[in-house]
Amino acid sequence: MLSKNLASEINTQIKLELYSAYLYLSMAAYFESENLPGFASWMKKQAGEEQEHALKFFEYLNDRGDKVVLQAIEQPPSTFKSPLAVFEQALEHEKSVTARINLLYGIAVKDNDYASQTFLNWFVTEQVEEEKNATQIVEWLKMAGDSANALFQINGMLAGR
Ligand code: FEO
Repeated sequence: MLSKNLASEINTQIKLELYSAYLYLSMAAYFESENLPGFASWMKKQAGEEQEHALKFFEYLNDRGDKVVLQAIEQPPSTFKSPLAVFEQALEHEKSVTARINLLYGIAVKDNDYASQTFLNWFVTEQVEEEKNATQIVEWLKMAGDSANALFQINGMLAGR
């Protein structure tokens, strides 16, 4: 069994990972409506990964003999200003997820819970990748500026994810 605090925060984390999936799916819907299917496809894949993250936490609670209690998922935003604004928001969101993973890790350290630290190591590494990917696309979109041509090129690159 985990400490009460860690089990409770991991239950919250399951909700937050599912919210991430919901947010990225909403961003995918925006890109579909803007006729940018490559961007939409990238976001749909991202949403799928977030569901996998939620399931990893789900399984971990079960493996440790703690109970999963699902919480209500908030409605994500549905309107966005521009592709750049979307990815800036995605990057900010990932930074907030990193802070959450660090919080969980801090609890596991305080608890002397080595199994949880080992489990969370995967997420620590994953967050480096998540922030790197979002940052790269933000930078590409800034370079593209108002060029439709550059935007379509990025759209094509993201389709290949
Ligand atoms: Fe589950 Fe994008 O971090």
